[in-house]
This record gives sequence, structure tokens and C-alpha cells, in this order.
Amino acid sequence: MIDLTVHEEKLKNAVDLAKKRKVLIPTFKQMRDPEKYTPARIKEQLKSTGLWDVDPVNLFRITWKNEPKKTGGLFGEVNTLEFPSEFTGVKARIIALCGKWFPTGAHKVGASFGCLVPRLVTGQFDPTCQKAVWPSTGNYCRGGAYNAQLLGCESIAILPEGMSKERFEWLRTVAGEIIATPGTESNVKEIYDEVARIRASRPEAVIFNQFDEMGNHLWHYYVTGSAMEEALKKAMGPKDRYAGVVVTSGSAGTTACGDYLKEIFPDSKVGVGEALQCPTLYLNGFGEHRIEGIGDKHIPWVHNVKNTDLVFAIDDNNCMAMIRLSNEPEGLEYLRSLGLSDAFIAQ
Ligand SMILES: Cc1ncc(COP(=O)(O)O)c(C=O)c1O
Repeated sequence: MIDLTVHEEKLKNAVDLAKKRKVLIPTFKQMRDPEKYTPARIKEQLKSTGLWDVDPVNLFRITWKNEPKKTGGLFGEVNTLEFPSEFTGVKARIIALCGKWFPTGAHKVGASFGCLVPRLVTGQFDPTCQKAVWPSTGNYCRGGAYNAQLLGCESIAILPEGMSKERFEWLRTVAGEIIATPGTESNVKEIYDEVARIRASRPEAVIFNQFDEMGNHLWHYYVTGSAMEEALKKAMGPKDRYAGVVVTSGSAGTTACGDYLKEIFPDSKVGVGEALQCPTLYLNGFGEHRIEGIGDKHIPWVHNVKNTDLVFAIDDNNCMAMIRLSNEPEGLEYLRSLGLSDAFIAQ
């Protein structure tokens, strides 16, 4: 559960800093319905702010409803992409939510907001003397360090040395300290060995462990869950039946939207995808894989496994093939030969 005990002194420091830096923290309600609830003066500021700019006003862009624009965008409907049958080979309609239009290009800014903000607004994290530690293979620590910078907090990012050069370069623009641990996508244990060292030796460091922070689950339950509900209501006709949601699990935060949707569609299913090359829910966890953004060899504490109905073991070769299909000239030519629209291919 989320500890909401208030520490008055530290809270005062956080409030003073926020005032000094003119930081306004959005609520989940504003993230769910940004068009309706975002203050007019914030919207005005957003009109001249880039999607990834390190500007506190971009806290209001932690939503699935950003206008798909690199700069100056406001809000619209949930960003989705429907995969046509010509592409999937199945009759069922498959609709995905697009994380690309969050600042940093991934939904993990939401999960990390859900972890940091409860501690900040209760005074459990003092931005004037403590540092936020973001252990992750990538997008969570990018999102965490980005949010922390907007909120005026210092960060320590921990990620495997084998992650892309671009990740490290971009992280340097937002994190005060970056620690590279041995390995790549499958080396979550090595990251947590470093966390144990920091916990034992650096009292100023506060660890935001996405695998056990209920704020991660809660953000996806309210914000992602309601975004999925809206996308479904828009797409479904009176005779349609919603079958279920499939999410790939890294920290299992996104699985919370499945819990939300089951309350609305009680006979729907929740499926969780993981790499075939490191089958954890499926076969206890061993091996290495190349699917960025999903974890392995452990089941996160925030994963409500009793509500998970299906496990999908996804071959990472298929993921690599998909990247080539949608990026290389021969792949694009093949997609056109299937009769897919240019608009879909461009997305
Ligand atoms: C792009 C992307 N998709 C999916 C996930 C998995 O989400 P979750 O950590 O909520 O399980 C991650 C996690 O890092 C990610 O970066």
C-alpha cells in the first residue's frame, strides 16, 4: 500500500522549492481528462513548449491524450493505433495505445510520476537534501529522471551498460548521476545489486523501486485503465464484444489497466506477454532476450497475478522482424502490397 504519513518539515521544503520553481503538480483527474481540467494558463504555456522540453509545465503532458505534435500540442482523444486484419491475419480487431506521444516517448513517465509524487506531497522525500534513485533497464529511469528534473529533484539513474548510446546520452541531460551496471536488458539482478550497495552506503538516496511501488500500479489503473476504456467506447459498435487486454510486463505496472477493465467487462481476460527466450511466468525464468522494456527472471510485487488469465511467450526474433518490417524499404514495400494505407504504415 502507499504510505501517506505526512512529514511536515520535509513537506515544507518541497512546497517552498515548488513555489520557487513555479511547479504545479497535476492530479490523476487532470491526466485522465486533460482537455477539461488543465488550467487555461497551463494550456497557454504548452502552446509554446516542445513535447520533450525539460519544463515543469510538461508534467501536464503525462497523459495518453497529447496531441501528436512535437511542439505546441494540446490535448485530443486517446492516441491509439488499430492493426488491420490484412496485417494481423486475424478477424478480431486489435487496438493499441500509443506511448510515443508522452514526453520521453514512453509511458514510463506516468509510472515514475506515480512513484515519486506520493512521497513528495507527503514530505517523505525532501528534494532539498535527498536524491531519487531510478533503477531500470531504461524507460523507467528515463521517465523518473525527467520527472524529477521537472519537479526540482536530483536523480541517480541506474541502468545496464549495454543499453543504447542514445539512452545514455539523453539521460545525461536530466540525471545528475548515472551508474552503468554489467549486462543488458536481462540483467535486472545486477541493477539491484547496485541498489543494495547504494542503500547500505548513501543515506541521502531514496530508492524508487518500480517493482514494489503501488504508485506504479495505481497510475496505470486510473490513467491507463480509463484511457483504454475511452478508446474501446469509441471503437466498439453495439454488437461488439471486448475480449481482453494483453500487456507485456516489465514492472507489471501496465497490468493494472487489465484489473480496471475487468471491473467494467467482467468476462474479459488479462494476458501478459514476456520473452520466450526468458520465460518467467511461463517457465520460472532463465535466458537472455532482446525485447526492450520488459523484464525477466522475477515477478514484480505489484503484479496482481491472481487476475492474470493468460501468458504469452513472445519470440524476440519476431519482434526484431517486426522492427525490420516497419522500417526497411523491402518491409515497407511488403506492407503496401498487403493493401495497407500509407497513413497506417507511416504510424
Ligand atoms: C516501452 C515499454 N513498454 C512496456 C513496458 C512494460 O511496462 P510495465 O513496466 O508497466 O510492465 C516498458 C517498461 O519499461 C516499456 O519501457
